[in-house]
Order: sequence, then structure tokens, then C-alpha cells
Amino acid sequence: MSIALDLLAWYDQNKRDLPWRHTKDPYFIWISEIMLQQTQVETVIPYYLRFTQRFKTPQELSSASQEEVYKYWEGLGYYSRARNLQASAKMIVEEYHGKMIGDIEKLLALKGIGPYTANAIGSIAFDLNVFALDGNGLRIISRLYNMEDNIALPKTMKQIQAIGDELVKGINAGDFNQAIMDLGATICRPKNPACEKCPIVQHCLAHQQHRQDVLPINIKKKNNQDIHYITGGIYYQDQLYLIKNGPDGLLANLYGCPQYIVESPYSFVEAFKEDTGLELDVIDHVKDIKHVFSHRTWYMHVYLFKLNSASKHLYTKKEIDKLPISTAHVKVLKAIYSCLEF
Ligand code: ADE
Repeated sequence: MSIALDLLAWYDQNKRDLPWRHTKDPYFIWISEIMLQQTQVETVIPYYLRFTQRFKTPQELSSASQEEVYKYWEGLGYYSRARNLQASAKMIVEEYHGKMIGDIEKLLALKGIGPYTANAIGSIAFDLNVFALDGNGLRIISRLYNMEDNIALPKTMKQIQAIGDELVKGINAGDFNQAIMDLGATICRPKNPACEKCPIVQHCLAHQQHRQDVLPINIKKKNNQDIHYITGGIYYQDQLYLIKNGPDGLLANLYGCPQYIVESPYSFVEAFKEDTGLELDVIDHVKDIKHVFSHRTWYMHVYLFKLNSASKHLYTKKEIDKLPISTAHVKVLKAIYSCLEF
């Protein structure tokens, strides 16, 4: 049999039971694919269930407040995803009468939807015959065809997309794409692939040549930016000083502790005084926290400071629990609370 038919037969028997696989509603498939872009399946499940319970249609999502949407996203990180979802929901309501359209170009026009996501939604929800290429597809196809090309290069990605588009011709592409995801997650893993369990091992040239542990070749140019901050747990009586980020940037509109790119907590005190006019005492070093975003890493050197007067930026723990906080600063707050008797 062919690669595609062998894989589909295996998927039929072995597919993971995931909540978004019980629907073909394009809106729900879209939400799941956006959540799954940068987050693991197990983490996504409860978020997906809560989010789709609360926001059942593009209309409901578009009319909610951004703070509420963020609250349902809190902990998933990469909040631009939530922002883009809401912006796109508004576009769907205004331009398409609240219904998503099964057309790849129209899907690509929505914010936050790139080629992989457009093809995943198109194939799963609209039965379009397109291959959704992600990291699993790159790895599996490069192994199947024993490709020595660097999968980090756009040229290689194009070649692999073309192979995938051929493979899905005349079959259920939505199932094929999800079968590739399941095979990649459980069998054709990056490290130690379980070739003895693979339903398409008889087609795999890398396996025949014992190259499965070497392929794919994936050499990325590194441009990770490391940023070191001093991050302030600033307290006044039983309250903490938080700032709300502006409307642009990585963590737009989320709350967090003040932080500065400075060399010491004493320079932090000076920078804070310059910004706010308020005086701080340095009390303690709390913890050093590393937070990895896809394209940069933050090192947050968290210190405790005592504020010497009241301010409108102060919040009790109960109030903070209701605010949308970035994942990085949820970690910071946890460390601060472990030092303070709030
Ligand atoms: N990762 C991205 N999309 C997925 C899906 N539909 N099922 C499982 N994992 C996924």
C-alpha cells in the first residue's frame, strides 16, 4: 500500500482522543490550532475547553473585553496569539457575517494564521486537500526520503511542502495531517524514534540506511537574544506595586512587576525614582528566574524592595489574582509571595 493509506489505516485505529477532534466547527478548530502553535497538547486541553465554553462563536469572542480574553489565556503565554484571535474574530464578524470561510487565501488574511495553520484549518474543518507542514512534517518526510538537506532552509521546506502536497492528493488530508502530528509526537520522535512501532517503516529510506538518529539535518542560525533584568518585588504594607504594559510589544497590556536593564538593585532604585519620584529601600535578593520566549530569553534577577509611600499602582494579592499577568511575571510573583507574609 501507499504511505498515505498505511498512515491513515494506523490513524484510524490509534488516533489520540483530543477534544478538538470531536468537532469540525472551523471556529473551534481555529482556536485549537492557535493554542497548539506554541504549547503542548496536554497543556492546551483544559485551556481549550474553558475558552470554547466561554467564547462559543467568533461573535462572542469579538464582543468580549480584552482583559477577559487575556484572563482565559493566562498561563499559555505568547499573548499576541490571544490579541490576534480577537482581532480576527472581529474581522470575521464584520466581513464574513460571523462565519469562517473555507478558502486558504481568506484564512491567511486573518491575523495570527500562517501557512501551516491555514492548511491545518482548511484540511480539518473544510476538507481542503492541502498538506499542513510543521516541524513533525519536516522531520517525518526528511526521514522517509532520507533527505540530507538542511530543513531550516526555506528551499528545503518548499521541497518538503511539495512532497506533502503530492501525498495528500485524493485522500482525507485533515486526517493525514493529524496522523503526521500523532506519528511525530508518539513514534517518529526527534530523539529515539520508535521505528519498531512505525506503521510506515517499510517506506522509510532513513530506516533502511540506519539514518533515523541522524536525520533530519536542522542547523539554525542562532539569534537568541539574552536580556538580563533586575525585577522588583516592590511592597507597601500588604500590597505590591505593579505596572500595566503599554499597547505594544511582547507582553502588551499585561500587568507585571517593574523591571529595568541595570547592573544592580541600587541602580534599580535610581531608575525607579527617576520614573516615578518614589523612594525604595533594597531589602533582599529573592531568586534568579530564566524565562524563554521563542526568540529571546529573559534572565530576571528578582529583588525585594520596600516602598516608602502609598501609590495608585499598589494591589493586594486578591486584586492581583484577578489581573492578567504574563507567564514570566506569574513566576516572579510566586517567588515574591514565598518571601512575604501576605
Ligand atoms: N498540533 C497542532 N495541531 C494539532 C492537532 N490537530 N492535533 C494534535 N496535535 C496538534
